[in-house]
Amino acid sequence: MITSPGLELVFQTTSRYIPSIMTTLPFLSDIESIAPTPILVAPQPVLRAVAREVTPDDMALVKSHLPGMFSAMYKAPGIGLAAPQIGLGLRFALVDVADEGERHPMVLINPEIIEESEQLAAREEGCLSLPNQYAEVIRPLSVRMRYRTLEGAIEEIEADDLLATCLQHEIDHLDGILFVDHLSKLKRNMIMRRLAKEQKGR
Ligand code: NI
Repeated sequence: MITSPGLELVFQTTSRYIPSIMTTLPFLSDIESIAPTPILVAPQPVLRAVAREVTPDDMALVKSHLPGMFSAMYKAPGIGLAAPQIGLGLRFALVDVADEGERHPMVLINPEIIEESEQLAAREEGCLSLPNQYAEVIRPLSVRMRYRTLEGAIEEIEADDLLATCLQHEIDHLDGILFVDHLSKLKRNMIMRRLAKEQKGR
């Protein structure tokens, strides 16, 4: 996910961070030297597929992709990146919704929303797989998520505001859902047509 330009001033990040979710990743100290993994742009079929659960046997593969994925996410810059966006059909995603100049990297393995608020919130969303396209999406304001850490522990966090939006957006990716699927068919088609046109002109 990416936040649209200029919106940071309007939406203050008030998401609650649970320190344990922030991962220590040694390669981040030299992330600029790591080649970013190319990000797939819609309508790539893998973006529409349901990713499968990560098993202990997959962990080496997951870890091998983290440096390139973090590099791609920070370079974009984006605040979330899911494995299907690099063509990998596994249920994991990266998130970092920290303010500029700070880093709060999170790696979510097999994440699932286990509770969501009745209260909804509208927020402008963008996606690294739909470059330059933004639209207001309505989702639950806060969520409770269960996920596995890189060490294999099962944890839960509560999130609201920007982090809640981002978690829902990234988990959607694992189910082959893009933010435009939350819009009317008319708006969705308009965005997809505009994206196709822009990609052709590149
Ligand atoms: Ni996205």
